Amino acid sequence: MRKILGVRHGHDASASLIVDGKIVADIAEERLTRKKNDGSFPENAIRYCLEAGGITSQDLDAVTIPTASISSTLQTFFPGGNIKEQSKQSLKLYLKKIINHYKIELPVYYEIFPLRRDCKIIPVHHHLAHASSAYYTSGLSDQNTLVVVMDGVGDGWSTSLWRGEGNHLTILQKYDDSSSLAWFYAAATEALGWRHGSDEWKMMGLAPYGNPQHGALDGFYPEFENGILIKKHGFGAPHRFPDHGCNHYHLNDAVELKKIAEDLGRENFAAEVQRVVEEQAEHLIYPWLAKENTRNLCCAGGFFLNVKFNQRVWYSGLVDNQWIYPNSGDSGLTVGTALFAYYSYNPEKKIHKIQTQYLGPEYSNTEIEMTLQDRKIPYKYYSDIELITAEKLAENKIVAWFQGRMEAGPRALGHRSILMSPLRAENKDIINACVKYREGFRPFTPSILYEKADDYLRNSREELFMITSFEVKEEVKKRIPAVVHVDGTARPQMVKREHNSQYYELIKKFGELTGEYVVLNTSFNVKGEPIICTPSEAIKCFFDTGLDALVMGNYLITKKEWTNESQ
Ligand SMILES: [Fe+2]
Repeated sequence: MRKILGVRHGHDASASLIVDGKIVADIAEERLTRKKNDGSFPENAIRYCLEAGGITSQDLDAVTIPTASISSTLQTFFPGGNIKEQSKQSLKLYLKKIINHYKIELPVYYEIFPLRRDCKIIPVHHHLAHASSAYYTSGLSDQNTLVVVMDGVGDGWSTSLWRGEGNHLTILQKYDDSSSLAWFYAAATEALGWRHGSDEWKMMGLAPYGNPQHGALDGFYPEFENGILIKKHGFGAPHRFPDHGCNHYHLNDAVELKKIAEDLGRENFAAEVQRVVEEQAEHLIYPWLAKENTRNLCCAGGFFLNVKFNQRVWYSGLVDNQWIYPNSGDSGLTVGTALFAYYSYNPEKKIHKIQTQYLGPEYSNTEIEMTLQDRKIPYKYYSDIELITAEKLAENKIVAWFQGRMEAGPRALGHRSILMSPLRAENKDIINACVKYREGFRPFTPSILYEKADDYLRNSREELFMITSFEVKEEVKKRIPAVVHVDGTARPQMVKREHNSQYYELIKKFGELTGEYVVLNTSFNVKGEPIICTPSEAIKCFFDTGLDALVMGNYLITKKEWTNESQ
């Protein structure tokens, strides 16, 4: 089995293509429809994956799906194909029941993706898909590894622990939604007026501004002790409100939590929420590390987008190898399902650690130039665009940086990024006011040259994907204040030359100009929108915000051109 397409239909819909065990393409539907957290059938993402792999649906050996996304729509878009026998008979029956019950006829202008008769359709349990996304990208198969999945709920589970050994994952423990620390976090997020399943970042950013109020939230969350769930929490039925292809979620607890937040103050409330989940997750995970006698930990599921908890685990000293799959939320399920199928059918193959997330569309200089010409936008070509950009940043300009393949997952990693100098504290406020339009308490990321990371961070480890924060060394906090959070931490991206030579060169040039080998990096989008994908979208964002310059490929576009001033 060589060519495997992973398809996620549900909130954060996505598709991924794995060929011979290598991730060829991975993209969330939202990037192609511009609807944040798009939950539609990911026909655009599928089309992109097939194009990126240079294949058609007839070439596929398997289509893999997280079972939560199973619907009649699946069979409509993928006529033909065989549903793989699963170990769980009930799962197979469930699938057949659903598919036989409904028949959908699509309008003729929709594209379908016909499959060969021998192409397998393989359902994979939601949590096994998350576990697979973490383990089969970790490179840790030579050693006994604990794999932990925590999310809101998926296929009835909220918490699961696995043993990774060789190419196999074995379930150790699982709990249903009464164990969901992620739902507690989401209900608290909703209580502050933000979206469940989307805005949890805001809670995490706000928490360090307050003081934990011990006991104030007792009774609203599940409790763990010695690796076991000792107190379930009944969340009640979750409510879902569909909104233009996306979903809003509501938990009843949010009503009571809102009142508590008003009494405590938002900052103190956020601090207590963060304290609770860190403490409870520790009570769950640390004993299992001891039981499994391992210092290797792999994690996935939306809970592990919590960079502060990931930092706490690292500084606990209990792990030597900590790997959090960078696309930990549900858009990362497709990679998990496809890798699970690949290693199930190819058990002799070695597991490699992934090195980049540059798995989306790219645009050549020629395509970029044509887009600019079509729109009659003045531009200049620079062969040394990295130096030109570094000079702009050293002049304290806000620069959008658009290069190569778009990133998979929630983070911009120097291909679709907005950059600024980290040297001035006020730059955070400037970017928020002029470009991002987001809350002032949310931190910005430093992109640091890999070799220079130890100059800035205390006791860090390799972190290429901004999924763990670390303490910033005391002596450098004042030198790069725009990327140090109020609690003295930063969530870095360490940049290696072999993964992104252009971005590496830009940061290096900036370092030569200013003495700091760090730039402020935030995703190329405005608040509430998905990250930019195409040159056309980049141009729209550039002219609709206070960006000073847009760099796409080797082309520089500045607003001064429009007033005939020299650059
Ligand atoms: Fe999930």
